[in-house]
Amino acid sequence: MPQLKPVVLITGAASGIGHATALAFARAGYRIAITDINESNGSKVVKEITSLGAEAIFIKADHSKESDNSRAIEETLKAFGRLNAAINNAGVEGQPDLKIEQQTESNFRHTLGVNLDGVLWSMKYEIPALLKSGGGCIVNVSSVAGSIGMAGMAAYVASKHAVEGLTKVAALENATRGIRVNAVAPGAIQTEMIDRFVGKGESQARKELAAEHPMNRIGKADEVAQAILFLCSPASSFITGHILPVDGGWLAK
Ligand SMILES: NC(=O)c1ccc[n+]([C@@H]2O[C@H](COP(=O)([O-])OP(=O)(O)OC[C@H]3O[C@@H](n4cnc5c(N)ncnc54)[C@H](O)[C@@H]3O)[C@@H](O)[C@H]2O)c1
Repeated sequence: MPQLKPVVLITGAASGIGHATALAFARAGYRIAITDINESNGSKVVKEITSLGAEAIFIKADHSKESDNSRAIEETLKAFGRLNAAINNAGVEGQPDLKIEQQTESNFRHTLGVNLDGVLWSMKYEIPALLKSGGGCIVNVSSVAGSIGMAGMAAYVASKHAVEGLTKVAALENATRGIRVNAVAPGAIQTEMIDRFVGKGESQARKELAAEHPMNRIGKADEVAQAILFLCSPASSFITGHILPVDGGWLAK
């Protein structure tokens, strides 16, 4: 009997790291459920994956809402019948350059809502689906901001520190149930998020950001995708509860 292809759910995959991860999993033989709030970009990613000969569906979901997370899993199971891996990547940077005494309730709630609540609600519904499918892997997308402070980025830094804590709790709760839970912690990676920070072209701000990395460059989205793929592969079978920096050496300083 032919073996069924594995299924991965990737949140926020209409752009950047999620998009690159969807392409990497397609090339690795997965069927892919892509979620995002951006329907038109999400549909383009589905077409791109289909043109590679892989199967993909798009699910419009706002991951800050618990109900959208349960629906995303229902639609994935309805389309593909199983779930073998889940990548919780959807995220926002929040409003930059806001000191703590300038924080607003709307910025703090929105950033924590997507980056932290989103990861909690995602895992709440992914874990039972993974268990029913015989086990699997979860990878949460954190940031170097999950272990260091960044002035002016209180909401983002708090959300990513918390995601790393949640990753460890989920790893412990599932260590003997056949589910491994890890996170990647990217440095600055060339995506629309970085363009929003430092502008699109060459600039002093972009040079200074690159210089934060001992490798003196900004990373590529596919370099994060490959680390995520590794954490979902049998090559990482004894790794759980780990936060893997993909940061050109930033956190080694
Ligand atoms: N680019 C970087 O330098 C960098 C560094 C470290 C960590 N990260 C993390 O990587 C992840 C992806 O970021 P990126 O750089 O690819 O950014 P991006 O802006 O290119 O992509 C983020 C995607 O998430 C989607 N999204 C936003 N809010 C959502 C919501 N409520 N529900 C569903 N989807 C939503 C957006 O529509 C977008 O398609 C984020 O968690 C981010 O914090 C990025």
